[in-house]
Amino acid sequence: MDTSRRSFIGAFGGAFGGLFAAARLPAFADAPEQFPNRGRWERLSVTYRHIDAGASKPFSVLHISDTHLTAAYPNESEWTRNFMAKRTTTFGGRQEEALRDSLAWAKQHVDYVMHTGDLIDAFSEANLDLVKKYYGIGGKAMGGALGNHEFFHGQKNEDEAAKTATRSRLAAAYPFDVSLSSTVVNGVNFVTLDDAYGAVTAEQAGRFEAEAKKGLPVILCMHCPFSTPTIYRAATKFWRRNVLKAVPDAKSWREGYRDPTTKNFVAYLKSLKSLKGILAGHLHIDVQDRFSPTAMEYVVGGNFLFHGAEITIS
Ligand SMILES: [Fe+2]
Repeated sequence: MDTSRRSFIGAFGGAFGGLFAAARLPAFADAPEQFPNRGRWERLSVTYRHIDAGASKPFSVLHISDTHLTAAYPNESEWTRNFMAKRTTTFGGRQEEALRDSLAWAKQHVDYVMHTGDLIDAFSEANLDLVKKYYGIGGKAMGGALGNHEFFHGQKNEDEAAKTATRSRLAAAYPFDVSLSSTVVNGVNFVTLDDAYGAVTAEQAGRFEAEAKKGLPVILCMHCPFSTPTIYRAATKFWRRNVLKAVPDAKSWREGYRDPTTKNFVAYLKSLKSLKGILAGHLHIDVQDRFSPTAMEYVVGGNFLFHGAEITIS
């Protein structure tokens, strides 16, 4: 570990940028009564992947996404309480337990954790407190990327303008720049960005290009994956009855983005030789495909189903 990283971790209580240090996690209590006949880690479904990024020293990351926490305090609005009650049924009510198990596994098995969004299912005070608790081990936060559900508070439209109602509150709860952040680990630049509705802004594209100009290998982490043939096929097959819900602007997702900024950004990324991988979520299925000559895109299944991916990086 280099000294700058050590001091950075120290300053932020174990969490920084898009990653947080697994060794600094507390030992979460297990709940053996829930699965009395299973081994300790048999509740988790862990996929294994490797990215040869050109790191100065190998390390490993637990990639999780889509935990969909559904907490609400009794004094929150009626809409919030009703929505969270309904969605607790949707996701099974064991999402926080799944997150705890994932982090407990990470503490023993990997160096860092990356969460690519939808940690919460909708905006609520209780969910924001859970965000601070789990991202903020030691009173500070972890990091990652925001998903569409982070911004959800019952609004009809899902676009950049719809984010303004909750953005500042989210920015205060999550311990990283929610628009775009960068963390360098062993010479690998993890760049996380908010593409919660499947698109990026010109400002984000510009900031990403500035990161790429640092000359380090880059792993891009975000919520909505970019469409590739295999990922599109899997997503539309799984979400057949409700593809528009699962994939914002599904038509343009298939056709290569009508939004010119996002379209240009994707074309730029495909030509970027230093891009070594993309980590994403949102689809709740585990699927991977080649994105560019130098980068695979890895979509991890829903953490509410106790799913995660260990990514070893060399
Ligand atoms: Fe999502």
